[in-house]
Amino acid sequence: MAQIFPKYVNAIPFVLAFGFIGTGVFAFGVVWYFGSPKYTDVGYRPKQPVPFSHRLHAGELGMDCRYCHASIEVSQEANIPPTQTCMGCHSMVLTDSEKLQLVRDSAKSDEPIEWVRIHKLPQYSYFDHSVHLRAGVGCYSCHGKVTEMDVVEQKQPLSMGWCLDCHRQPENHLRDLASVTVTDMTWTPPDNQAEIAKRLISEKRLNPPEDCSACHQ
Ligand code: HEC
Ligand code: HEC
Ligand code: HEC
Ligand code: HEC
Ligand code: HEC
Repeated sequence: MAQIFPKYVNAIPFVLAFGFIGTGVFAFGVVWYFGSPKYTDVGYRPKQPVPFSHRLHAGELGMDCRYCHASIEVSQEANIPPTQTCMGCHSMVLTDSEKLQLVRDSAKSDEPIEWVRIHKLPQYSYFDHSVHLRAGVGCYSCHGKVTEMDVVEQKQPLSMGWCLDCHRQPENHLRDLASVTVTDMTWTPPDNQAEIAKRLISEKRLNPPEDCSACHQ
């Protein structure tokens, strides 16, 4: 997307809310915010420079998400894989495919491929993948069935109301990691999910925050 406004404009509503608007007005804002339809970028599905398909690689070929998004369990940021990860196979597989020309060019020149970012929170909010994955929340809960997407599409609004909906009631999103991975896209909550969730919440002392400072540091 073209950047029409400079980045700091993102922070303006937040600065306004916390900076100099009185608490009364702000309380009104909160009521308005939670009452209004969820702010949404659902359906955002930009064209990527290389026609890379998750349906093929993560679906048909069955590659685990973490093969490419390798730092997701240890760092706050999910990583987009470097070209080297692709070349691990594509220096041997489909070496003269036109669809892979840009990948080969990138490997040769050492210039990264310019993938278009899809999911993006405003800078004033804080999110950490690793905490959610350790808690047993699967990729599916926030990104949908990526294994069926030729082109990745945003499936959830990533709005504050959306974050809080799950923080207040995470039960149906908590997997027992002893029997299922966070990357399994076929998982659905079993019949005794309520019981399992209760156990997991107490064992891991899960405590999804609702206080402002947790997500706005
Ligand atoms: C072979 C490597 C590879 C595998 C395996 C893989 N991905 Fe990706 N993923 C990528 C690349 C490259 C991009 C950037 C291009 C794109 O968006 O398609 C990406 C982008 C994404 C994005 C969008 C990121 C953004 O810009 O917001 C999500 C979400 C994602 N992957 C989730 C997954 C999930 C979930 C799995 C497992 C089911 C998975 N990926 C498996 C390589 C991979
Ligand atoms: C583990 C091996 C492996 C890795 C890693 C891998 N691929 Fe692939 N990729 C394949 C295979 C196998 C196919 C072909 C399947 C078929 O059509 O037979 C393929 C097909 C493709 C195609 C379609 C090419 C065509 O001509 O139809 C593109 C584009 C592609 N991969 C891009 C990527 C990118 C970009 C990355 C890195 C983010 C990547 N691949 C990583 C194994 C891999
Ligand atoms: C609790 C919700 C949640 C879960 C679970 C989750 N994600 Fe994300 N993901 C997000 C949000 C929110 C963003 C945007 C983060 C930001 O802008 O800081 C994001 C961004 C991404 C990106 C883009 C990062 C970048 O730098 O371009 C990738 C790739 C990704 N997620 C992959 C995954 C994979 C793979 C899994 C499962 C192993 C997963 N996510 C699980 C919510 C989630
Ligand atoms: C599908 C459920 C789900 C969604 C959606 C979700 N979370 Fe969480 N979140 C959790 C759970 C469960 C925990 C508790 C983890 C723990 O206590 O170890 C948590 C914990 C956190 C924490 C505290 C741990 C830390 O990293 O400091 C923050 C901050 C957080 N989430 C931010 C967000 C934001 C921001 C969003 C929306 C973009 C979001 N979450 C969406 C389930 C979710
Ligand atoms: C679980 C994480 C989380 C918590 C807790 C949270 N927020 Fe947010 N908040 C977000 C996210 C994510 C966004 C960005 C939403 C978006 O892009 O639409 C946001 C956006 C905002 C905005 C900008 C609203 C807008 O319409 O652009 C304000 C103001 C705000 N939050 C205030 C608060 C206040 C006050 C609290 C405490 C009562 C709070 N937040 C608690 C995650 C959280």
